[in-house]
Amino acid sequence: MSRRAITALSAGCLLLCAAHLRASPAGDGYSGGDYREGYEGHDYVTRSLSLDTRTQRARASDLWPVFQAPPLGLPPIPVPADNPATPAALALGRKLFFDRRLSLNGTLSCAMCHVPEQGFANNELALAVGLEGRIVRRNAPTLYNVGYFRHLFHDGRETRLEQQAWLPLLAHNEMANPSVGEVIRKLSDLADYRGLFAQAFGGRGPDMETIGAALATYTRALVSGGSAFDRWRYGGDSQALNAAARRGYELFRGKGGCASCHRVGRSSALFTDDGFHNTGVGWYAAMTPARRAIRVQLAPGVFRMVNSDIIAKVSAPSEGDVGRYEVTLDPADRWKYKTPSLRNIALTAPYMHNGSLQTLAEVVRFYNQGGYANPGLDPRIRPLNLSAPEMQDLVAFLQALTGDNVETLVADAFAAPIGDPEADSAR
Ligand code: HEC
Ligand code: HEC
Repeated sequence: MSRRAITALSAGCLLLCAAHLRASPAGDGYSGGDYREGYEGHDYVTRSLSLDTRTQRARASDLWPVFQAPPLGLPPIPVPADNPATPAALALGRKLFFDRRLSLNGTLSCAMCHVPEQGFANNELALAVGLEGRIVRRNAPTLYNVGYFRHLFHDGRETRLEQQAWLPLLAHNEMANPSVGEVIRKLSDLADYRGLFAQAFGGRGPDMETIGAALATYTRALVSGGSAFDRWRYGGDSQALNAAARRGYELFRGKGGCASCHRVGRSSALFTDDGFHNTGVGWYAAMTPARRAIRVQLAPGVFRMVNSDIIAKVSAPSEGDVGRYEVTLDPADRWKYKTPSLRNIALTAPYMHNGSLQTLAEVVRFYNQGGYANPGLDPRIRPLNLSAPEMQDLVAFLQALTGDNVETLVADAFAAPIGDPEADSAR
């Protein structure tokens, strides 16, 4: 494996892998942060694909046509007048999205938290981990279909993709750049970006707007529909959805009451009302009393029980999270979070804003028990009295929402350039 491949892979786990390798009985293979032997152990097997498999699956695609014709089941992609989608901006945004040089120390790209082969989310971490192992208090959401949402982030604090990208670029626990100016300076100095901004944005160079605009165009193109459900509901194919999933859909609309928030339209479905609701998940996390022993994640999939006194000595206190309230300061919005779309939901575990539910069966059990009761609970979240077979049907329905173009988008992501700091400094 090339050094470049090793660097890219290990940058994804940063301190976490080092911690794991030291803690693991198989950890004697540890020899420096970039060394991959011993990465997997008897208690940990990663589902991340090494870069060798990346190259085998890599197949660049022209994502541009989705702006003319979105997949079955989706409405036209809303594109703002001041950032018209163009093939040049799309290609530039794709390059930026996968470029690790966009982080302070050249290790972390957008794609390392929104991992293409993990549903453009992260299946291995409940809470995202940013630069130098710094934890983010929330779960990295999928970017599939993100261009349709009126509110961005779990608390909806941003409204335009053009602006959104600057938050991870500057957050100290994400890509940790010290300033807007530093990002612009870095991109202006990189030889492989020369001319690309000018070509995409009528002669302009990298600046606060053009960087955000290019990234927005790429993420906007990550639309995914054409699922079994879409072919059945919108494509007139009565065989596309199996019987269990069809029964699940009836429960979703009827007894389960799911569709009142996760909406399904007449000619398309986004499975969200673009609203904010208290399901009890946030309240529960805030109110659960401190435990003596805490389950600590050392690496993706590797957990140890650690005494809470020890944790208090060595870590910063965990940040609170009151959801939508942080944006509106309206007490009624405490512990409300954005209704996420359910498209491709089978690909994006773990679930909820804090990744606290592991499987779709767990999510359905959670709703069946009426969420977590609390004073602000949305009245639509109530005990559902679903039988075990009914809960299975609901899960079967949720599993039928995976888009038929997912493999195309993943293969295209694998074909994208990575942006290697070493290759760059060698130039
Ligand atoms: C350290 C991991 C990490 C990195 C790096 C990262 N993100 Fe995210 N992203 C997250 C998390 C966590 C959230 C949710 C944060 C919240 O709700 O407060 C998020 C939310 C988003 C959203 C909103 C999605 C929605 O449904 O509301 C978009 C869009 C997004 N990120 C795009 C990007 C882009 C573009 C980059 C690179 C410039 C990037 N992210 C880098 C972790 C990351
Ligand atoms: C009152 C509105 C409402 C109703 C009714 C509702 N949901 Fe949700 N759903 C939400 C909100 C809000 C979240 C996000 C909660 C969070 O992040 O903490 C969510 C999250 C989810 C998730 C996890 C999504 C992800 O990406 O993490 C799934 C799956 C889900 N709901 C399925 C269902 C099903 C199935 C039903 C019916 C049994 C249902 N929902 C009923 C509002 C609702």
